Amino acid sequence: MERLQKVISEAGVASRRKAEELIKEGKVLVNGSVASIGMKVSGADEIIVDDKKIKKEDKEYYLLNKPRGVICSLDDKEGRKLITSLIDTKKRIYPVGRLDYDTTGAIILTNDGKLTNILEHPKNEIERTYLAKVSGFVSKDDCKKLEKGVLIDNNFCKAYHVKLKKYDKKSDESYVLLTLKEGHNHEVKNMFDSIGHSVDKLKRESFAGLGIEELRSGEYKKLSIKEVKRLYALKKAD
Ligand code: URA
Repeated sequence: MERLQKVISEAGVASRRKAEELIKEGKVLVNGSVASIGMKVSGADEIIVDDKKIKKEDKEYYLLNKPRGVICSLDDKEGRKLITSLIDTKKRIYPVGRLDYDTTGAIILTNDGKLTNILEHPKNEIERTYLAKVSGFVSKDDCKKLEKGVLIDNNFCKAYHVKLKKYDKKSDESYVLLTLKEGHNHEVKNMFDSIGHSVDKLKRESFAGLGIEELRSGEYKKLSIKEVKRLYALKKAD
């Protein structure tokens, strides 16, 4: 048995919040009766949302090499290009987490809410590896500071591993590879800012072990069943 709003959102009909609103508005029927929030349903129950019967939707999974100038949102008041517009599908897919407008690299898009919850939940410590081009020389001490953790807006942000790949003396810029196991908004940029380096360019090289080496900017691939199963297996026991 699962919560009704969860089942509705996982069927790809609406976000979980929107599903809750629809239930509150009395627009959801379970086996012919008006449903209530928190109600639990099974696969045998007939669920009707806004006069339409919902069915389990086929799941799709994509790994995209996000280009710059694309927003990780389902709509944008400023009319900027949406990440979902890069994928050729009729399904209501969405990005797992976010990359900034000017950040490039690995991002998963799917209509599988269950997997999204696994990949976004901090307890599962999903690895994200970034290559950051930052101002100045990033010393061993700087790397250690980020590995020990810095406090940003009441969030303790900690890198799992930080390594200077290259220092360009001419431009006075460092190329730093860092792996995080959680995701907060603008985390990498804020972490570097907090130790006195500003991020000029940021690329996510891999997410949950999925790299984008073979994908050009803007290219994507469908994940295989084996890859999806491996992602599901990243869920840690409660
Ligand atoms: N950290 C950032 O600062 N930006 C991103 O896009 C991702 C992680």
